[in-house]
Amino acid sequence: MGIDRRGFLKKGALASGGLLLGNMFARGSSLGAGPVGSAAAPAILGGSKAHPGTWPGWPFWKGEAWDKKIIAVLRSGVWSRAGNTAEFEKAWAEMLGSKRCLSTVNGTNALIVALNQAGIGVGDEVIVPPYTFVATVQAVLQNGAIPVFADIDRKTFQIDPERIREKITPRTKAIVPVHILGMPVDMDRIMQIAREHNLVVIEDACQAHLAEYDGKKVGTIGYAGCFSFQNSKNIPVGEGGAIVSDDDTFMDRCYSYHNLGLPYGSQAGSLAGAFMMGTKVRFSEYQAAIGLVQLEEARRTADLRWENGQYLTGRLEGIKGIETIKLYPKVTKAVFHLYPMRFIREDFAGMPRDLFIAAMKAEGVPCMKGYTPLQVQPFIKAAFDSRLYRTVYDSQTLDYAAYLDANRCPESDAICNEEAIWITQSMLLTSHAAMDDIADAVWKIRKNADKIVKKYKAGEIKI
Ligand SMILES: Cc1ncc(COP(=O)(O)O)c(C=O)c1O
Repeated sequence: MGIDRRGFLKKGALASGGLLLGNMFARGSSLGAGPVGSAAAPAILGGSKAHPGTWPGWPFWKGEAWDKKIIAVLRSGVWSRAGNTAEFEKAWAEMLGSKRCLSTVNGTNALIVALNQAGIGVGDEVIVPPYTFVATVQAVLQNGAIPVFADIDRKTFQIDPERIREKITPRTKAIVPVHILGMPVDMDRIMQIAREHNLVVIEDACQAHLAEYDGKKVGTIGYAGCFSFQNSKNIPVGEGGAIVSDDDTFMDRCYSYHNLGLPYGSQAGSLAGAFMMGTKVRFSEYQAAIGLVQLEEARRTADLRWENGQYLTGRLEGIKGIETIKLYPKVTKAVFHLYPMRFIREDFAGMPRDLFIAAMKAEGVPCMKGYTPLQVQPFIKAAFDSRLYRTVYDSQTLDYAAYLDANRCPESDAICNEEAIWITQSMLLTSHAAMDDIADAVWKIRKNADKIVKKYKAGEIKI
């Protein structure tokens, strides 16, 4: 990640702001059909800011009413998994329309457990996108399988179903589509491919709580879905995760696996003692208590992000040099864990992306460039070099140079290295006026790109 997202989030201030400038845009200018009216100098050249620079902090806490829930857990002395955890699981399953939910210590372990109990292991290939958080791929490696990268579609930032097709081999067992940045992937096409090739689909919905595809919550469309409740997430607990699925036997086995292989549900009663290999990644009562109060706000914030995200897209459309995100036709709600756009340097007088980010920051609009290419990071080679992998795979499979070559992802690399700009989710929990400010900031920079670049080259702007 270019800028550490979690560090960046901490800096958020409390007020929502954004009400000062209002909507001063009209359509139609010589630079494209972008907003006009903000001919003022950009802040990086000494002009006034587009936004006061105070944005909602994250996570938020509603005070006493919420304190009570946590204090009750602390005073009870019951801190390991018990009633609150079961209540949280029931509530989250209901909100999604899923039959079952199992909480875990975090999203990474939700993925590890789900993949494990979906039968993924040594000898298997699992298709993943390159444009994701490292946890998606670590979960595959933790199960001894080989991650195979299918490139994304740059227009949507999401795994491209056509690229998935090209990567299927007799060893392919699963697809892990990731609804990255809170935007649903093209599930119809992915499920179709999975059906054709008899593959398991485990959705990584760790960034996409309550996002919808064709009216269905993501995470409930594939065989199983995994969520994260890490601090920065749209439903924050600090650390936390969940697996959802409609398959009772699978969910009972996930429960056992996450609890040292001890019998549960359909396995309970008939067996004495641990009956399968397992780990211990159980949610705690105080995690569940935080999760339960956060769920109270989850629908409202998801809807607000969706509403403001669509509005912002409308404001940015037509600014030449900014490519707004495209959603698949069946997306009925994106929840913009991060709101993305593509920055086309050539249309900004050759401005480096870091300079654009600095200029946005000067406008009071913090943004970041996001992920760096994942498929080339050393952890995969480290797995290939491990005793486990060298014992169970042949040298052809572990030929790292050949692996890198087969897993090139130029589309993902382009957005990682050149184009992506992210605005963090809590900035969408504001108003249309604040979205206007964001668009105004972009527009001022675009309009004055020549001047900014000239001053930068002359050493008068330092970033
Ligand atoms: C796409 C994706 N997958 C998996 C994870 C892992 O979740 P956690 O951080 O809760 O382990 C995350 C969270 O950071 C994520 O963004």
